[in-house]
Amino acid sequence: MARVVSPARRTAYGLLAASARRLTPLRVLVDAAILAAIAASVGGAMLETLPDLPEIRTWTPVLDWFAAAVFTVEFAGRVWSAPESGEPHARRAYLLSLQGAVDLIAVLPAWAALVAPVGREAFEIVGVLTLLKLARYLPALGLVGAVLRNEARPLFAAATAMAVMLVIVSTVMYVIEREAQPATFRSIPHSLWWGIVTMATVGYGDMAPVTGLGKLFGGLTMLLGVASFAVPAGILATGFAEELRRRDFVVTWNMVSRVPLFQGLDAARIAVIARLLKPQLVPAHSLIARRGDAADAMFFIASGAVEIDVAPQPVVLKTGDFFGEMALLREARRSATVIAAEETRLLVLEATDFRRLLRDHPDIGQAIERVAADRGGTPTA
Ligand code: CMP
Repeated sequence: MARVVSPARRTAYGLLAASARRLTPLRVLVDAAILAAIAASVGGAMLETLPDLPEIRTWTPVLDWFAAAVFTVEFAGRVWSAPESGEPHARRAYLLSLQGAVDLIAVLPAWAALVAPVGREAFEIVGVLTLLKLARYLPALGLVGAVLRNEARPLFAAATAMAVMLVIVSTVMYVIEREAQPATFRSIPHSLWWGIVTMATVGYGDMAPVTGLGKLFGGLTMLLGVASFAVPAGILATGFAEELRRRDFVVTWNMVSRVPLFQGLDAARIAVIARLLKPQLVPAHSLIARRGDAADAMFFIASGAVEIDVAPQPVVLKTGDFFGEMALLREARRSATVIAAEETRLLVLEATDFRRLLRDHPDIGQAIERVAADRGGTPTA
């Protein structure tokens, strides 16, 4: 089936899709409207519940309707323009995604209120839920989602182990305390509340053992609780570190594979080199190296340009070029001053990793040496 080409739909997609992040003035306006609607929706829901400010309630419906109008246009626009992503069944995929569900839920109370009275609670709960829309604007929230997805299995295993422990400790405490406190430890389900509060070491104090054995067992449960809560915390901490490392690696990989010197290398060698290189963003006009300074790294230009201050006239190096190799090869000081001609993305190769690269990949080392020999330059002792 031929793809329908619609400039209006393409524009709508460009204005709404998270992947189409080209910042036009209209896009900024659309983002500002959606963010204002989120603020109105959340603010309205929270202000509404202030008991000392009843007059605020004359304003909160205005905030709710403003938010509902913006969210309705946004939702309709997203459904309509989804096929522009080029994915198969894009509309269905959007509607079944978490973001799609949040976008739909955000408009439901207002739509329902058009046909039947809707309780304030619906606006309050949904109003606060619209905070989840911020995930499109805050990559950190996406990171949380990715970590939870990656670590779902170990987290599920830890949660299952904790649930089993919870049931066991609650049952044991019920058996120990039921005679001394029949009204408090009424049943095993009632004791589960004690189990959760104790294992989480929160200790509200509304249910507490009074027998000696009960207190001893309660103390052990607290220690067990601290140890078992450390497990999911550890899984999440390593999950975050791992995901950040993976994302950095993907960025570095893409940058490395674009450097001509590394083109033609197989994936395994690019992976090894990507681990040695660290991305660095340098603002325009900033000093990267000064003639006469000691050298501790060389640089590959992943994007942008730098100016090498050599006589008779400066040389400009661009995307794919490298510099800073001479001082490392000659074990000398920087032969020239290097300044970023524009905002530049560099891949930094530290001196120890430079020597490792030369040792493990002699062909790359020879190519670097050939370029350095062509450049000549006066080594600074
Ligand atoms: P290094 O001496 O470590 O630091 C300055 C860098 O500028 C140098 O390595 C080279 O990478 C680069 N450079 C020096 N002279 C030239 C040149 N004539 N042409 C291009 N690059 C140069």
